[in-house]
Amino acid sequence: MAAVMRFVNRSTFGSRVGHQCLSFSCSAAVAKSVQVGASAGKALPERVKIVEVGPRDGLQNEKTLVPTEVKIHLINMLSEAGLPVIEATSFVSPKWVPQMADQVEVMKGINRRPGVSYPVLTPNLKGFQAAVKAGAAEVAIFGAASELFSKKNINCSVDESLQRFEEVTKAAKEAGVRVRGYVSCVLGCPYEGQVSPDKVAQVAKRLYRMGCYEISLGDTIGVGTPGGMTEMLEAVSREVPVDALAVHCHDTYGQALANILIALQMGISVVDSSVAGLGGCPYAQGASGNVATEDVVYMLHGLGIQTGVDLPKLMDAGAFICSSLNRKTSSKVAQATCKL
Ligand code: HMG
Ligand code: MG
Repeated sequence: MAAVMRFVNRSTFGSRVGHQCLSFSCSAAVAKSVQVGASAGKALPERVKIVEVGPRDGLQNEKTLVPTEVKIHLINMLSEAGLPVIEATSFVSPKWVPQMADQVEVMKGINRRPGVSYPVLTPNLKGFQAAVKAGAAEVAIFGAASELFSKKNINCSVDESLQRFEEVTKAAKEAGVRVRGYVSCVLGCPYEGQVSPDKVAQVAKRLYRMGCYEISLGDTIGVGTPGGMTEMLEAVSREVPVDALAVHCHDTYGQALANILIALQMGISVVDSSVAGLGGCPYAQGASGNVATEDVVYMLHGLGIQTGVDLPKLMDAGAFICSSLNRKTSSKVAQATCKL
């Protein structure tokens, strides 16, 4: 599928904006928000939970090792910015993802803010046990709706992965640990091209039935458009209650905010995003980072939707990690220099 294989590189330009300009433009956007919701004819959620995945999904793709203290400082800044969930690291094989090899030090080093969750990825029982030992109170298992992606990412078929995840959810139940489930490639796969919405729905259903409290639907390579998102969410919501669904949009083709708006209109109120738009998946070459958290927060606040996130503090966290990595932000909001 040519459209899937023709990837766009991460955009890297611009600098961040003064905070007073942002608050002014936000309130201007709020004034219009009622019309946006009303003209779409759907009720938008009053509050959205943002799951910040930058420290994991963002940093896992970095070629040079990010110092552990930088990761810890980033997570602490994100906690201070009011993010309710911060995916902190992964308990995966260091041979597969060397960038996450300091997972125990990260978990031990962060300041855990009361009320904030710090889930970690665990692909199997070994990862789960190590995560619990390091103090994780929530984990995430990660499956896919594409056989080839599953094989490349976690070295097993979709069915085998679900069997491994059963072991994890069973152990988690016994240990009182919450489990989130991911389905990758919900709108396209770098190896198989198109992915059927029914296949996504079947994998999501199995994760939900085995005990995941929330299923995050990942557009891993950011190829989806609002039409595909609508069709996929219709199929999944026939199998899993909509209030147990989240969307996880990478922004390779610049469609993420439009896709998220569709999800909100369809009743979803949990959105994954990555500060400064960092990241990508090491097993989905060419895919860019998640939609930037700054841009999601700006849009949600503009729609009059509460997030509990302090945008200026979030932008400070974005500026910190970009300067530590010596790169420009991918957040449009952080790049904006206009004064309204
Ligand atoms: P494998 O090689 O098939 O594993 O990898 P194995 O069971 O055959 O074991 C081989 C070695 O790995 C053994 O060590 C095990 O002990 C070790 P050895 O005897 O050779 O010294 N091992 C582990 N070590 C640490 N932690 C573990 C672990 N398990 C086994 N948990 C495995 C299978 C799943 C481990 C591997 O494929 C892996 O780690 N994959 C992770 C890939 C990854 O992290 N991808 C990125 C995250 S997914 C993503 O980004 C998508 C998402 O954002 C959503 C979206 O965007 O769509 C979530
Ligand atoms: Mg991802």
